[in-house]
Amino acid sequence: MIKQPISGHDTVVLLVDSFYDKARKDELIGPIFNEVIGDQWDQHLPTMYRFWEDILFNTQAYEGNPMFVHRQLNERIPLKPEHFERWKTLFVETVRELFEGDKAELAEQRAVSIATVMQLKLAGYGK
Ligand code: HEM
Ligand code: HEM
Repeated sequence: MIKQPISGHDTVVLLVDSFYDKARKDELIGPIFNEVIGDQWDQHLPTMYRFWEDILFNTQAYEGNPMFVHRQLNERIPLKPEHFERWKTLFVETVRELFEGDKAELAEQRAVSIATVMQLKLAGYGK
């Protein structure tokens, strides 16, 4: 498979679709997504396109508060360290399978940083 740069909207869609394909099928974190998102993937995926396009290309299209959303989620289904580990592994795997270049590296770094900070905040650090 030839790797490509993450170059804009279409490649962000490919990244996000590929990641959630993996995440939904994963035996550890898949059930969380499937329970919470259910049949609402048509709404969730466009939110995630906007989120990642914003992070990588500063489009300012994402409106939302992911920290708040995951605090609520964590009340309902406790998010454990192993969930975050799996999330990060699948995300990095997806990026490396499909992409190369600066934006690919940036995507990995931001994903890992955000996941780490999210996990620490949910655990009660820096509340
Ligand atoms: C759960 C919510 C979020 C957390 C915990 C979080 C955490 C972080 C952390 C730890 C960094 C530093 C990463 C690094 O230097 O590699 C960072 C950087 C950044 N984040 Fe977030 N973030 C969140 C949401 C967002 C959102 C919603 C956006 C924009 C739509 C965003 C845009 C950025 C940008 C552009 C940077 C790079 C800033 C710079 O290097 O000048 N983040 N974030
Ligand atoms: C243990 C790891 C994680 C799990 C199980 C998880 C699960 C979920 C679920 C189930 C939702 C939908 C919530 C709802 O609609 O009520 C969601 C939303 C979202 N997640 Fe995560 N997540 C994880 C980590 C992350 C990380 C590390 C990021 C960012 C790098 C992230 C970014 C987002 C964003 C942007 C949304 C949409 C929030 C909005 O509605 O605006 N998630 N996540």
